[in-house]
Amino acid sequence: MTSSYDEVYGSWRKDPEGFWMDQASGIDWFEKPKIAFDPDQGVYGRWFPDGVTNTCHNCLDRHVEGGRGDQAAIIYDSPITGAKRTISYSEMLADVEAFSGALSDRGIRKGDRVIIYMPMVPEALVAMLACARLGAVHSVVFGGFAASELATRIEDCEAKLVVSASCGIEPGRIVAYKPLLDAAIEQSSHKPDVTIILQREEHRCELIKDRDFDFHALLQANAGRKVTCTPVASTDPLYVLYTSGTTGQPKGVVRDNGGHMAALHWSMHSIYGVKPGEVFWAASDIGWVVGHSYIVYGPLLHGNTTILFEGKPVGTPDAGTFWRVIDEHNVVVLFTAPTAFRAIRKEDPQGSLISDYDLSGFCALFLAGERADPDTIQWAERLLKVPVIDHWWQTETGWTIAGNPMGLGLLPIKHGSPAVPMPGYDVQVIDDAGHPVAAGTLGNIVVKLPLPPGCLPTLWNADDRFQDAYLAEFPGYYKTADAGFIDDNGYLFIMARTDDIINVAGHRLSTGGMEEAVSGHPDVAECAVIGIADSMKGQIPAGFIVINSGVDRSDDEIEKEVVKLVRDKIGPVAAFKTVMAVKRLPKTRSGKILRATMQKIADGESWKMPATIDDPAILDEVSEVLAKRGLKSRDS
Ligand code: COA
Ligand code: AMP
Repeated sequence: MTSSYDEVYGSWRKDPEGFWMDQASGIDWFEKPKIAFDPDQGVYGRWFPDGVTNTCHNCLDRHVEGGRGDQAAIIYDSPITGAKRTISYSEMLADVEAFSGALSDRGIRKGDRVIIYMPMVPEALVAMLACARLGAVHSVVFGGFAASELATRIEDCEAKLVVSASCGIEPGRIVAYKPLLDAAIEQSSHKPDVTIILQREEHRCELIKDRDFDFHALLQANAGRKVTCTPVASTDPLYVLYTSGTTGQPKGVVRDNGGHMAALHWSMHSIYGVKPGEVFWAASDIGWVVGHSYIVYGPLLHGNTTILFEGKPVGTPDAGTFWRVIDEHNVVVLFTAPTAFRAIRKEDPQGSLISDYDLSGFCALFLAGERADPDTIQWAERLLKVPVIDHWWQTETGWTIAGNPMGLGLLPIKHGSPAVPMPGYDVQVIDDAGHPVAAGTLGNIVVKLPLPPGCLPTLWNADDRFQDAYLAEFPGYYKTADAGFIDDNGYLFIMARTDDIINVAGHRLSTGGMEEAVSGHPDVAECAVIGIADSMKGQIPAGFIVINSGVDRSDDEIEKEVVKLVRDKIGPVAAFKTVMAVKRLPKTRSGKILRATMQKIADGESWKMPATIDDPAILDEVSEVLAKRGLKSRDS
């Protein structure tokens, strides 16, 4: 099939508003928008400002009304617990109506915020969709975050209610959520009125009288109840998803209803190339944007069956799990992070487990979340014999900025590049002064405003922070904070972040946030956290600490405490396990820590002595410490 990409992208360029009005017709509206885009609303304009709709209606009711009631909406496959369950669109609708009734009885109304802190279980999706049904704004918090991260989010969005579970399950350990939730509520100055707790048999918890309610008891008590969808403005928020910023204070990315649906619906057929009724699997977590867009909303909006997988690519029980799920549930498209494939490859380098399964119905593997290294892509291509498609996006955009649109017909694949911009995105590469750079030259990747439907209109309660963080530096453009280049054929290459964000196993983390936690240790005088290359996780954080003079304790003891501190403050997901005490940190004469140079030394890359360095001998000290730890250094 020849690709219609040029034609489709060209049609958007010619008439952006007409293009998106056409896509808006792919969803149901209570009041159809007459205006595509109003540049005078919000920080940089708003999409479909006069439209009235409901996301839950579009995910469930309309499919049931349209004849998909008996089709599986969700296939829950949990190798970690041994559970498997198929839930049809009708069953899902009934549960969501019942849970909406329970939320509504507890005072949840349009615009109220509900935190969802849950593992990968169907009840989490019921809670998300019930919020959408009532026009309430959900904010899902990833289970690998610690209590204080949860507290920050409860406080920032002033959650009226929290839906949680008694536990999550990680290989070899139960993660008791309730103590984390109770600690978070204790720490937050804003207190939610009510919590609803899913009791899991693997580890039940005590409920606090008159505050904690049992999820399933509420579901049963409300079974059969009919709760209509609350009409919401297209521009009303559907959810807030917190993501790492450059400080310990995460950014609350806001997603609207109408633009989000139009964009995701388009992406399902045009980017992922799936047809309604087919099985789509995003092996991520609902706590991340990939989970929001492609475990929950995208597939359900488009009438697909979505896989909810509670397990890991390896160890649950082995590196053949992904192939088993694809075979057993007839998965057509899988979307995951490259790190998952690196983990599988490490366990089963020859891919010998693949031959145990029938993957004949499997059509494509999409990768995102971090740079897809050509080595991993080639390995997957060779063994799976399907296109392996890199695509680039961010929590902020909610869907692909650049990709290779399978539904429009694939363009030639270039390893190391997520290919070309999608309609809606005018992607440019500019230098620090804002001037366009020549093809092949590295620079700041920016998107010309307005951003397309689905992208964040602002940050929760923080228009000024949104403006400062994304729009101020390059007026008229959205700063992606990624650096890269565009080649002569218009293909994008994403090379690095321009801020302090690192990508650990596809999880986005701020080294600045980690430094804030580390510097909270009473014996630490100063510190620097950098991301160093890791063959499995892409990057891992490494902390350098200078211990206060006069402290009479071993470095080893303090280093262990620092590791625990970050785990307690940010959570296990930070994968913060490497801390090194150093005598001094390398700095410029004006006192700026030379993190980039330290990173190059650690990664064994070539580096130049910064002209402004205060004392070059300190870099030798850092090198020595790295070498002693068996980490790469310039001598390695
Ligand atoms: N709840 C509680 N803890 C969690 C968690 C959750 N939902 N998810 C991860 N953690 C914990 C892990 O148990 C681990 O704890 P440990 O330090 O006690 O071992 C820690 O957080 C780090 O987790 P992770 O970085 O995921 O490493 P891992 O070794 O457990 O697994 C992979 C590595 C590659 C298998 C895993 O990261 C993976 O499946 N990645 C797939 C990609 C993905 O989901 N990306 C998200 C965006 S697309
Ligand atoms: P997140 O918001 O967690 O989705 O992380 C977004 C960041 O991950 C981007 O800004 C990039 O730095 C990185 N990223 C995501 N997808 C890709 C990709 N396909 N190639 C390179 N980097 C990527």
